[in-house]
Amino acid sequence: MDTRSRSRIEWVADHCALLSQITDEFRQTRPFDRLTIGTGIHLEPKTVALLMTLRAGGAEVIASGNLSSTQPDSVEYLRAAGVRVEAEQTTDPALHTALLGRVLEAQPDLLLDNGGDLFALYLEAPYPGLRGGTEETTSGRMRLEPLREQLSMPILVINDSPIKQFGENRHAVGQSMFETYMRLTNRSTNGKRVTVFGYGPCGEGVATCFRHAFAQVSVCEADPVRRLEAHLDGFMTPATDAAIASADIIVTETGAVDVLTADHLGLIKDGAILLNGGHFPGEIDFAGMAGSAEVEQRDEFENGALTTLQLKDGRRLTIAAAGHMANLAGPRPLGNSIEAMDFGFALQARCLERIATGGTDASDCVVPVPRDIDEGVANAYLDLRSG
Ligand SMILES: NC(=O)c1ccc[n+]([C@@H]2O[C@H](COP(=O)([O-])OP(=O)(O)OC[C@H]3O[C@@H](n4cnc5c(N)ncnc54)[C@H](O)[C@@H]3O)[C@@H](O)[C@H]2O)c1
Repeated sequence: MDTRSRSRIEWVADHCALLSQITDEFRQTRPFDRLTIGTGIHLEPKTVALLMTLRAGGAEVIASGNLSSTQPDSVEYLRAAGVRVEAEQTTDPALHTALLGRVLEAQPDLLLDNGGDLFALYLEAPYPGLRGGTEETTSGRMRLEPLREQLSMPILVINDSPIKQFGENRHAVGQSMFETYMRLTNRSTNGKRVTVFGYGPCGEGVATCFRHAFAQVSVCEADPVRRLEAHLDGFMTPATDAAIASADIIVTETGAVDVLTADHLGLIKDGAILLNGGHFPGEIDFAGMAGSAEVEQRDEFENGALTTLQLKDGRRLTIAAAGHMANLAGPRPLGNSIEAMDFGFALQARCLERIATGGTDASDCVVPVPRDIDEGVANAYLDLRSG
């Protein structure tokens, strides 16, 4: 019997059941023949599976990543497979923008965006022939909505599919942020006080996972309706200052900026650990906190996976991944589960296919995934599981 040594990228590909099925179909239907797709999404093993699916459909893919999350082995794999990759593992916004610029220089026919970076940059130097594309996240939708008139092309928002919201945001981000807390800190959750900022699907999942891990969880939510939902779900909903002051662990999941800033340093409990799970790093103002006159000493662990700030009054607090999205940071970053990303990426493949084959028009600018695509992906998954 042969024993094969295989990579994590291959493990992931083996378990992206929806993408595998779509890949087989695309090899026959070739929806992207003669089209170039420019991508700006976390370069990690699940994304590799998606990009290989698009290639199977005939696309020329030019790939870039997101701030902080690019994984070198994924880049290497894609390059070996002949995909042009313009990405580096960087937290420098200027370098990140330059890399995205190289994707746009190739004037792709379709864009697959995550956070609105590519579409926003496209508007600075539009080129003819862009047919539209997709946006993966809540944060990207919030950024692109005000630009609808200027964009005026089909842009389907994967996040606004119910499948993405419950399959990834609610059910996977919580598991992943919990896994990240354990992986980065190796600390316990039992009996600890956890405060989650934001009670959208992501925050709900995070709060639930920490509660299941025997923590006492509070929720801070700006919207009173969602705050009520958190209350009815059994979470404490104290005032913000009290929630910060009592927390051993704080997780941000808001999509907003400056949720935690240097102004909160006076409140934060000795030993507290802060993690951001939102898409953009500004939810926790790491630079402002680390640069505060209240900080005496800064210790970095594992290349900044954790930074401990020692305050002049003797308290210490630790911030994960310098405030960047923690679940794709640090040693052995896994991100959300394979099944969860397979859902979102199946939606991505189907939405790009819809735009490439002329099934959308300019009125579909920054709109949710079409219902029939959601139904198709749901049925495909259920059929696979019932086999
Ligand atoms: N880490 C991951 O793998 C991952 C995966 C999917 C989405 N995301 C990101 O997670 C973030 C949250 O996603 P979502 O789908 O739950 O978004 P959402 O918009 O549905 O929910 C965010 C909630 O935060 C609340 N909020 C905003 N500012 C606040 C503040 N200052 N204090 C308290 N509450 C505040 C809003 O009222 C809202 O209810 C987004 O940035 C999204 O892009 C991350």
